[in-house]
Amino acid sequence: MFYKLFRSIFFCLEAEKAHVVTFQLFDTLYRAGLLNLFFKKPPNHPVNVMGISFPNPVGIAAGLDKNGAHLDALGSLGFGFIEIGTVTPQPQDGNVKPRLFRIPKHEALINRMGFNNVGVKRLALNLLQSNYTGILGINIGKNANTSLENAHKDYTFCLRELYEFGDYFTINISSPNTNNLRKLQKKHMLKELLEHVIKERNISAKKLGIKKPLLVKLSPDLHYQELKDATDIVTSLGIEGIIATNTTISRCYLENHEHCDYQGGLSGKPLMKKSTDFLKQVSREVGQSATIIGAGGVTSGEDALLKFRSGADLIQIYTGLIYNGPSLLREILRKLSLR
Ligand code: FNR
Repeated sequence: MFYKLFRSIFFCLEAEKAHVVTFQLFDTLYRAGLLNLFFKKPPNHPVNVMGISFPNPVGIAAGLDKNGAHLDALGSLGFGFIEIGTVTPQPQDGNVKPRLFRIPKHEALINRMGFNNVGVKRLALNLLQSNYTGILGINIGKNANTSLENAHKDYTFCLRELYEFGDYFTINISSPNTNNLRKLQKKHMLKELLEHVIKERNISAKKLGIKKPLLVKLSPDLHYQELKDATDIVTSLGIEGIIATNTTISRCYLENHEHCDYQGGLSGKPLMKKSTDFLKQVSREVGQSATIIGAGGVTSGEDALLKFRSGADLIQIYTGLIYNGPSLLREILRKLSLR
């Protein structure tokens, strides 16, 4: 009720502006101790995967808090985990604005943000200043001007610099908004990249005395053979998990909507079927050898249930949160009989 009213006001603003203003409001409510008057934190229902105990299996997907600057407010909402990023070694502005578009008729977004973020050093500072104590995933990427040949240096740099802060790390090679990034999903490039990242993780693990899980985030636009190559590499190298999926460049579920021609990644309701079909396939390929986080199109408890029935161990939401507000978490937990 409260969120519906809030949404009708904030949806009058341009989408990216609304995102900034919403976080300002959330941070202010949090600091005033008022956020939990509106959104009550649910009780814990721990799920143990990848050696981590998640308070519940529903997390916030990467991209919502790219810089880890709003963790305290987001953390008070009761999600089982929060994934921040994508962070790149150097700060970068991302693509030109406007680059985020709402499609309310379909409960969808199209974004072509292009990894706008403050860079590793500033993100680390934000984490040092945060009081968030929940499970933290850090999603890492490469700068736009780093060549594919040197991409592994960006990923290993991010991992090394941030290793102490994250509970797990996601290797993002599936954003459609950085030129050629998704080529890193191809067999030989993927194997080489992951070998570098694993080597770096093992060095950091030795230094810190904790081996932290790595996940690979895949695009739902991969064809079956590409998916199979990627899952074979993930399992053969012992990568701990897969996130299925990122946004799609397909517009086939948009029914000729005016936004069909907008460049960028589509998320929200129209992504649900495609990403869930992909998730099922990933689950068939990896069996129990890797943890699967289901993301893409969850806008209701029913959708969440379907993700788990399709093989997800955990799920993440982003666009559903924009359209339904934080009470979506409670709806999902109710459907999963976790409250
Ligand atoms: C994203 N997503 C994303 N993913 C990622 O790995 N790194 C990122 O920086 C971003 N940035 C980002 C920005 C915006 C505006 C959106 C809408 C999405 C993708 C996101 O994490 C998720 O995988 C997809 O959006 C699918 O889930 P939903 O939104 O349908 O629940």
